[in-house]
Amino acid sequence: MTDVTLHTRRLILREFTAEDFAAVHAYGSDPEVTRWTVFGPNTADNTRGFLRQAQASRGERPRRNFDLAITLRDGAHVIGGCGLRRTDIPGEAFIGYVLGRDAWGCGYATEAARALLGFGFESLGLRRIFADCHPANAASWHVMEKLGMCREGHFREEKLVKGEWWDRYVYAVLAPEWRAARPPNPDDTMSAS
Ligand SMILES: CC(C)(COP(=O)(O)OP(=O)(O)OC[C@H]1O[C@@H](n2cnc3c(N)ncnc32)[C@H](O)[C@@H]1OP(=O)(O)O)[C@@H](O)C(=O)NCCC(=O)NCCS
Repeated sequence: MTDVTLHTRRLILREFTAEDFAAVHAYGSDPEVTRWTVFGPNTADNTRGFLRQAQASRGERPRRNFDLAITLRDGAHVIGGCGLRRTDIPGEAFIGYVLGRDAWGCGYATEAARALLGFGFESLGLRRIFADCHPANAASWHVMEKLGMCREGHFREEKLVKGEWWDRYVYAVLAPEWRAARPPNPDDTMSAS
């Protein structure tokens, strides 16, 4: 498997291309968007580096990192990005997501992340998928809760980010929990080539 495209009711998640620079840089350089992300605010070089890394991961065999652009089905422009990365622990991956400010509050992050979970469990055969965020990032952990992920821990002053010691919530969901909670959705499809 190399390239991945995931379709949801309102979104298409697809591989990034170099042409996405302007859209990715717009949200990646926004201090409000990146307030609680481990990256950013990005310089133009940071954004180019991210896009190069995303392109390079398409050539991994087996592939471990899936960074996907979040685009609207009806407009096709990039509103954000999301990713699934396998860890060194068998059957485990973590996910993350970021949207430009204009796209907040519409349920898009939940919809995109749900597609990533489906891809991880159903296509990659994963066992456990986790996500993390700063406790102050309520929008982010609300997304995790809406996905049916369970808060497994609150680690205090665990991570040095941008010169501050950050607390971290960790949420996770296991494959049987995912399958029990979620009937197949005919709107969601995936393709890999
Ligand atoms: C986190 C983020 C991706 C959420 O995107 P989104 O599409 O707005 O999320 P959704 O609409 O799917 O769900 C967000 C939920 O959090 C709630 N929420 C949003 N902001 C909130 C806040 N400040 N306090 C409490 N709840 C909040 C929303 O009401 C919604 O819950 P609801 O559907 O029950 O009403 C978006 O805010 C973002 O890109 N933030 C900057 C990047 C970032 O922090 N990424 C995560 C790093 S760990």
